[in-house]
Amino acid sequence: MHSNPSQKYQPFAPIALADRTWPSRTITKAPIWLSTDLRDGNQALFEPMNGERKMQLYKELVRIGFKQIEVGFPAASQTDFDFVRRLIDEDLIPDDVTIMVMTQSREDLIDRTVEAVKGARRAIVHIYNAVAPAWRKIVFNMDVPQVMQLVKHHVSHFKMRSDAHPETEWTLQYSPETFSSAELEVSLAACQTAIEAWGVGPDRKIIINLPTTVENATPNVFADQIEWMHRHLVPREHIVLSVHPHNDRGTGVAAAEFAMMAGADRVEGCLFGNGERCGNVDVVTVALNMYTQGVDPELDFSDITGVARIAEECTSLPIHPRHPYAGDLVFTAFSGSHQDAIKKGFAAQDPNGVWEVPYLPIDPADLGRTYDSVIRVNSQSGKGGISFLMEREHGVVMPRRMQVEFSAVVQRQTDASETEMTGDALWKLFDATYLATPDTAEAIVCHAHHVTHDGHSIELDVTINGVRQTLQGEGNGPIAATVDALGLPLRVDHYEERATGSGANAQALAIIEAAMEGVAGSTFGAGMSANIMTASVQAVVSVANRLHARRVGQEESTADTTAA
Ligand code: KIV
Ligand code: ZN
Repeated sequence: MHSNPSQKYQPFAPIALADRTWPSRTITKAPIWLSTDLRDGNQALFEPMNGERKMQLYKELVRIGFKQIEVGFPAASQTDFDFVRRLIDEDLIPDDVTIMVMTQSREDLIDRTVEAVKGARRAIVHIYNAVAPAWRKIVFNMDVPQVMQLVKHHVSHFKMRSDAHPETEWTLQYSPETFSSAELEVSLAACQTAIEAWGVGPDRKIIINLPTTVENATPNVFADQIEWMHRHLVPREHIVLSVHPHNDRGTGVAAAEFAMMAGADRVEGCLFGNGERCGNVDVVTVALNMYTQGVDPELDFSDITGVARIAEECTSLPIHPRHPYAGDLVFTAFSGSHQDAIKKGFAAQDPNGVWEVPYLPIDPADLGRTYDSVIRVNSQSGKGGISFLMEREHGVVMPRRMQVEFSAVVQRQTDASETEMTGDALWKLFDATYLATPDTAEAIVCHAHHVTHDGHSIELDVTINGVRQTLQGEGNGPIAATVDALGLPLRVDHYEERATGSGANAQALAIIEAAMEGVAGSTFGAGMSANIMTASVQAVVSVANRLHARRVGQEESTADTTAA
């Protein structure tokens, strides 16, 4: 990089608009959307879409609800020409949709463009030419009056050609290409030239489309430019003021939003921000940002994944997993504190109330996404996420201290494996930790039990230290009786039992927290069975085994310290 960037790059001069009003405005309604996926987006692909792909994407754009769709550059590409003809000849344009086609400012190209859309009920023809100094000087070698002459001549030419086809309702869109890099007075003069040449009036509207062909300043500068144009364009009431942001600085969405606040009526962009270089503005993000502010975007993204897959298929461009709203990972929390908050948020969310689940700016269900991937477990995860998954996927509700205990077990495992843990893997670990009989010689294995009617006495058929034996115990319930039968200094601190699953698959899950004399702290054990009694007995055996293992571990570490 340059050691002194100020020698190489110059900031874009701020706009003199001290009384700007846009910063205190909010967006209260959807703009007129124009999808340029089939034109600007298509032009930016390694391999432009063929007719079939274009048709697939076109139909999806119509389904989403775009009422204006730029369908191509028919004078520049036979594929586009044929595609536009097919839309018209096969009557594939719904009554409430208007197609737009682009042409450069050249007579023969304008003629061919008119040819392409002949017979359409309505058509927008998009004429553009660059107006910024670098393009005037380097690319076209034209001075400002020559640029104005170019605009006047070609708009008049289009007017003459389109007037010859009154069966079509024509709209002119004029874009001063490179607008954001140009002097405002020059852009305004070019637009006013187009407005006059087109003969704008109540029945003869024009779309003035202002692009950040190359995004070159912070989005507030673009907003100032738009507000300035909004104030100066005449007759404003017959002009649809449109913006066409690109995303070179990564602020295309902000530019579009600020521009709407500054007076833009219309936004052009592409799904998921496809387009030249860093893309056109992502209309999905702009629309859903609006939605999360309570404003109906009038575009249907209720199956965002379906839209994403079609866009990927048609453009052969993958959508980043962290792409706003659509990425595979955007409704996934790995961090423990986030998982905990999300879990609490879901539990507290009133289904008819205002959305306020922490860390989720939008209800994934509104986009047709499920909560399945909301919580994922890796070494960064905490008890919240783990218990959420255990509860949702396996119906296991753990008491809080058990959540803490089990999350440490999970953490050890994920730290060692350095991988994410699926819901199934989590269940296997839970099973191995609490439900399975430990694989040690001294483990207590309970083969059978018999509880008396009143539940106060029990007979256990167990193997302890490899010796099979029958034990008997008494207590004020089956748990106390089992503890008594095992003859261990166990103190049961907490017991709970819940059903998991339903109907024929219902199982009782018993959870016990207990402490044992000589063993530091308490721990949990669990038992699961279709029979509540059996689940309780197993839970006692489980906690006894776990406390025993802890005591052995304690003794071993004391022995190690003593030896050292
Ligand atoms: O980015 C741009 O300037 C364009 C215009 C032709 C509107 O795509
Ligand atoms: Zn563009």
